[in-house]
Amino acid sequence: MRIFASLSIAVLALASLTSLSVAAQQSAPPQVAQVAKTPPMGWNSWNYFFEKVTDKDIRDSADQIVATGMKDAGYVYVNIDDTWEGKRDANGVLHTNSKFPDMKALADYVHSKGLKIGIYSGPGPKTCAGYEGSLGHEEQDAQLYASWGIDYLKYDLCSFIPEVMEKQAPSDKAAQMRLMIAAYDKMAKALKATGRPIVFSLCQYGWDAPWEWAPALGGNLWRSTGDITPDWDRIYAILSQQDGLARYAGPGHWNDPDMLEVGNGKLSIEENRSHFSMWAMLAAPLLAGNDLPHMKPEIRDILTNADVIAIDQDKLGRQGTRAYSDGEVEVWTRHLSGGALAVAVLAAGDNRFSTHPFHLDLATLGLHGPQEAKNLWTGKTMTLTDRMPIEIASHDILLVRIAAPK
Ligand code: GLA
Repeated sequence: MRIFASLSIAVLALASLTSLSVAAQQSAPPQVAQVAKTPPMGWNSWNYFFEKVTDKDIRDSADQIVATGMKDAGYVYVNIDDTWEGKRDANGVLHTNSKFPDMKALADYVHSKGLKIGIYSGPGPKTCAGYEGSLGHEEQDAQLYASWGIDYLKYDLCSFIPEVMEKQAPSDKAAQMRLMIAAYDKMAKALKATGRPIVFSLCQYGWDAPWEWAPALGGNLWRSTGDITPDWDRIYAILSQQDGLARYAGPGHWNDPDMLEVGNGKLSIEENRSHFSMWAMLAAPLLAGNDLPHMKPEIRDILTNADVIAIDQDKLGRQGTRAYSDGEVEVWTRHLSGGALAVAVLAAGDNRFSTHPFHLDLATLGLHGPQEAKNLWTGKTMTLTDRMPIEIASHDILLVRIAAPK
């Protein structure tokens, strides 16, 4: 955490610099994916529990994924984030700390629920929270994960930056980036050598355009920005940074705008709904990050909305794009299998009122004449007509699916 905090400004600065070169380049040919054919769905401990997560929290969360209907809705991965790690023994074997007495037993428990289990590490000597990292033990750690039955690894850069990149290549950013990519490649190979299908999640905050190189080394998802927080401004800032990345996403390899904050902090119901809707439009991994044992029914209803999840999980795997913006209102579209189209109208700002409803421009979306659509939050069908007035409360969204766009 502390290491990460001191790096975050540099992260943001570099992330914005690297994004400049993206448009000019092509993505590497993706490998045939064994896993993550659609964006991974599940839950991760970090956004709610942070460093406090325990074995019991993971078991309780797995239980709740089943009990709340989230499993039936498609949530599969139960992911332990940072702070499970203990010390290495004389043979270099990593042990868990006292919060996680028996990782194999925990994995067996999660599997017994018909779910999968994920874990966390990083290429540096320490993780972001200062726990043991995988540097110099990549193969050993990958084998250990496989022996426990781990199905998903989030691999977080953090201390690799000061301890390896900056030490080995001071003042040479390009050389630093090559070291970073080699570190991810090393763990990808170590995971592959286990023979176990393990989703590989790169967490390096979007440095050096990972969408261009991560798929080729076997990355199934890569963070495209710095950390999310449960604040509308942060969620909207991350959303804005996804525009332009659509062509890098597809079955087996996804842009990751970070885990969901639905149900966390002081997000309003509108903000929770918009956040979830837009992550579905982005074909983003849907990793809930809330307190499942105390989840309110309205939050469960958002996280389990089958129509919205169907947008996210659409088998074409085409990420949505921003069609246009009009002041503080943004219109995004996503092409779906069977020729269907999802349209999201997002009232991103604070200052648009019913005195001036938004007028949706169908022609700009390539649509001609009235369109029959399903409103995915009310479940009702509606007809979209050109320039029709649409009233959307601040930070709320209209999300529709047009089965047969004309
Ligand atoms: C970084 C990551 C977060 C989380 C923490 C854990 O900040 O971006 O998602 O994994 O580390 O320490």
